Amino acid sequence: MELAATRIAVDLRAPTVAIDRRIYGHFLEELGRMVSGGLFPEKGSTAPLMREVGYRKDVWEACRDLSPVLVRWPGGCFADVYRWRDGVGVHRQRSYPNRFWGHRFGPTWGPAVHNELGTDEFLALCRDWDAEPYFCVNAGSGDAEEAAAWVEYVNRHATGHDPSLPRCKLWSVGNEQFGWWEVGHTTARDYARRYLRYRAAMRAVDPTIETVLNGNDDPRSRWNARVLERAAAETDYLSIHSYQPQDYRLAHIFTQPPPTVASWYSALSIGETVLAKLEHHEQAVRRVAGRAIPFAVDEWNLWWNFPQAIRPRPSLRDSLGAATILMTFQHRADLVRIANLSSLINVISPPIVTDRDRVARTSMFHVFRLFTAHALARRVASRVVHGPSYSAARLKGIRPVERAPLVSVSATASDDGQRVAVFLLNRHHELPARVELDYQGGAAASDAALHYVTGPTMMAENLPGRIEQIETGSRPVDRGRAQEVELPPRTLAVLTHAVA
Ligand code: AHR
Repeated sequence: MELAATRIAVDLRAPTVAIDRRIYGHFLEELGRMVSGGLFPEKGSTAPLMREVGYRKDVWEACRDLSPVLVRWPGGCFADVYRWRDGVGVHRQRSYPNRFWGHRFGPTWGPAVHNELGTDEFLALCRDWDAEPYFCVNAGSGDAEEAAAWVEYVNRHATGHDPSLPRCKLWSVGNEQFGWWEVGHTTARDYARRYLRYRAAMRAVDPTIETVLNGNDDPRSRWNARVLERAAAETDYLSIHSYQPQDYRLAHIFTQPPPTVASWYSALSIGETVLAKLEHHEQAVRRVAGRAIPFAVDEWNLWWNFPQAIRPRPSLRDSLGAATILMTFQHRADLVRIANLSSLINVISPPIVTDRDRVARTSMFHVFRLFTAHALARRVASRVVHGPSYSAARLKGIRPVERAPLVSVSATASDDGQRVAVFLLNRHHELPARVELDYQGGAAASDAALHYVTGPTMMAENLPGRIEQIETGSRPVDRGRAQEVELPPRTLAVLTHAVA
C-alpha cells in the first residue's frame, strides 16, 4: 500500500532568501560525557588517541566527518563560570571539580574539568574540522575586562597564542542570564547594562566582532522586550534556546514518552511548534526594536527529560523531528541566522555517541550530513499543493497539529539558480509516499540524485557496539523522472539536480 500522491510546487521565479550556513552549527560543552569521557577517553578506555593532545582518534574523526559548520564553546551554563585563563599557557589549571554543575546538581551531574581543552585546543579543533568558532564569554562570575582580554588573546594573537589559529568573529555575552539555574543570573535591566559594558569593552579590542544578546524562549516572559528596550541598537543577534517539548512539571521532567505512533507524529510535528514560537518572538522583537533582529538559536534539540543529558538515545524519531526543525530554520532563513544543535557528543540527542572503546554515528549525524552535504545557498519558495495529511494531539509542550501534510518540503537553490536541492520528509510511520514536483519557471536539466536517511522502525538507532539500524544512501534518478519520486516511510531525502 502507498499513500495518495503529494503534489509539491517549487517556484523558481519567486524571490529567494540567502540561508546562512551557520544554521547547521553544533555545541561543545563541559557537560555529562561530552568533553571528558567523550572527546577525551574515559578511564580504562583502549581507544586509540591522537598523540599531540590526547583526544580519542575515533571521536575526533567522527566530528570531522560531520563537517560542523560552526561550533559554540565552552557553554552553556558552564560558560558563566569558565575562566579562560585557566585553559591557556603557563596559567593553565590542570584540573578542578566542575564548579557550576557540581555546585548546583551534585557531583554526579557535572564532570571534573581537566582543562585539556582550552582556547588554543578549541581553535585548533575548529581549524582542523573546518568549522567556525563561536565563543560564549563568562557574564556570570566574570567581568567585561576578562572578556575583552579573551578577544585580544584570540583575535590579536596576544603573547603566547599561535597565529595560525583562526580568529573568532562571533561572541555571546553570557548564557541564559534570565534563568535561576545560571550563575550570575539577574534582571533584564541589569543584564542589558552588563551586556552593553561587555560589548563596548570587547569591541574596543576588535570592532569587527559580532555579539549575541541572551534572549528568553519562554513566550510568557517580558525579558526579551526589557533587554531590547535598552540594548536593541547594539545587538547583532538575539539568542533563543529552543528545547522542545518544554514541560517543566515535575512529573514530566523524568519521563520519556513511550515509543508509540502518537509520540512519533508529535515528534515529527515539532518544527511547527518551533516555528510558532519563533514567530511569536519575532513579533515581540519588532514591536520593541522597530526592526527585525536576527535570531541565534544557539541551543536547540528535542529534549524529553532531564536524564537524557547524561543518557542520550538519539532515535530515528527524534532525529527526523530535528529535521523538521532544520527545515523550519531554512524556511525562516531571513530570521534564523545561527543555530547550534545541543549537543555534539553524548548529551541529549547528539550526532556522536561513545562508549568506553567505540563510537557511533547516530541518526542525528546522518540527518545533519544530509543538510551540510547537500543544502544550497538560497531558500526557494515551495509548498505542498495537495496530498495526504495527519493530525496529532498535544504531547508535553508540542502543539497539536491538524491536517498537516504527511510529506513536507523545503527547497534550496544555488546562488546562480542553476542547481536545486529539494528536501522532502515522508512523515508516515509505515507507508511509502509518492511525490510529484511541479517546478514553476524551470525544469530538471540533468539526471538527479536522491540522497536519504531512513530506518526500519520508528525508534531505530545507531549505538556503539550494536548493529547499525540507520540506513543511508543515494540513488540516481533519470532526468525524465526527476519530477516524480518515491519515498519510503520514515524518510528524509534530498533530491538534487540542475535546472534550466
Ligand atoms: O546543554 C545543556 C544546558 O542546557 C546548557 O548548559 C544550558 O545553556 C541549557 O540550559
